[in-house]
Amino acid sequence: MAVTEGHILNVWIFFSIFLRFGIFADGQIVYSTTEEANPGTTVGNLAKDFNLNLQDIERRGFQIVSETNRRYFDLNLKTGVLHVKERIDREDLCEQNAKCSLPLEAIVNSPLNIYRFEVNVLDINDNPPLFRTSKTTLNISELAFPGEQFALPSAFDADVGINSVKSYKLSANEHFSLDVQSGGEQSVSAELVLQKALDREKQPLIELKLIAVDGGKPPRSGTMQVIVNVEDVNDNIPVFSKSLYKARLNENSPPGTSVVTIQASDPDEGVNGQIVYALVNHDNDKNVESFSIDPETGEITVKGDVDYERKNAVEFRVQAQDKGHKPRAALCKVLLEIVDINDNVPKISVTSLVNNVKEDAPIDTMVGMITVTDNDAGKNGQVTLKMQGSAPFKVQNSYNNYYTLVVNGLGHTEE
Ligand SMILES: *[C@@H]1O[C@H](CO)[C@@H](O)[C@H](O)[C@H]1NC(C)=O
Repeated sequence: MAVTEGHILNVWIFFSIFLRFGIFADGQIVYSTTEEANPGTTVGNLAKDFNLNLQDIERRGFQIVSETNRRYFDLNLKTGVLHVKERIDREDLCEQNAKCSLPLEAIVNSPLNIYRFEVNVLDINDNPPLFRTSKTTLNISELAFPGEQFALPSAFDADVGINSVKSYKLSANEHFSLDVQSGGEQSVSAELVLQKALDREKQPLIELKLIAVDGGKPPRSGTMQVIVNVEDVNDNIPVFSKSLYKARLNENSPPGTSVVTIQASDPDEGVNGQIVYALVNHDNDKNVESFSIDPETGEITVKGDVDYERKNAVEFRVQAQDKGHKPRAALCKVLLEIVDINDNVPKISVTSLVNNVKEDAPIDTMVGMITVTDNDAGKNGQVTLKMQGSAPFKVQNSYNNYYTLVVNGLGHTEE
């Protein structure tokens, strides 16, 4: 069938009527106006659409009678045109309903006639997405695995349809991405997804911005601050400032003498980073038992006897352990050099002695053996032996600390 000009005209008329006011099954007239339209904006021509004679509508008292919706509209009695009288807020009238339709009635008298029609209030993007609060805090363990999801608050947009929340964005950051669920009937929501493992010791607080965007043209957006509080896990062991602590200590130092202070640190938070020091002495070594360590400060002090002569160096281990629920520990070594002081007197012992010596005994005749000992070390232990008084004898060093007593002159001296 050829498309005639007349056919096109009919179609055009049909659509132009349909676009200006929809015709429902019952033939009711429906006008449309956008919310927030300025007073005076034309909504539709009532006189024309209801076939009223312009000449007598004023005389017949043409007026809108609907109690509640009358305030928004005005009739021009010269033209029969319906105008916006008062600003209309769609959100105030219809809240979140996708369709916002105001039923209206107009009348004329003599004869009385009632005309029913509707005005559809169309949404405009006059509301931005809003979050309930401007800031939210998430506590996330530093042990969380990449891929873990964390729920985020949703934004609310008073507008409907295309003008409601359509997407979410996240500020650029190293650790998180956004998983946005949308499409179909469901409302749009967003989840935070961990992409890269966290480390509280590097960054305890991560500040993000969550942005909700609506589908209006132009779109509007709302922002919320998301603070990620990275929760500590006891994932660090204590670390000593040195692996070997060396110190010198005079022997016989009294109890309480400070020897050396051990220092370890642990970057974990709270109890996970608090350190307790202890001496390790699994072998019940008496030399180690002469020392004690302050569990809090790490200061090692003398507790018992420190005797160079018993041991000239003491070695032991110190443990530093944090106070975490599952504590972590580390060990270091302490090497103490005990410094000798001259606390021993030389001991002289005569190991053998001849009781009688002939007066003509020749010089260098051996009459006795003497042993000298000194427990001190080095110079403190070196002994020199001297004879006091006058006697016809002298001491001779024979070997190490062994001396001999020999005749040095005539026994019958008569001077
Ligand atoms: C996050 O942890 C803090 C303590 O560090 C606590 O006061 C707060 O209630 C926690 N917040 C949530 C949402 O669990």
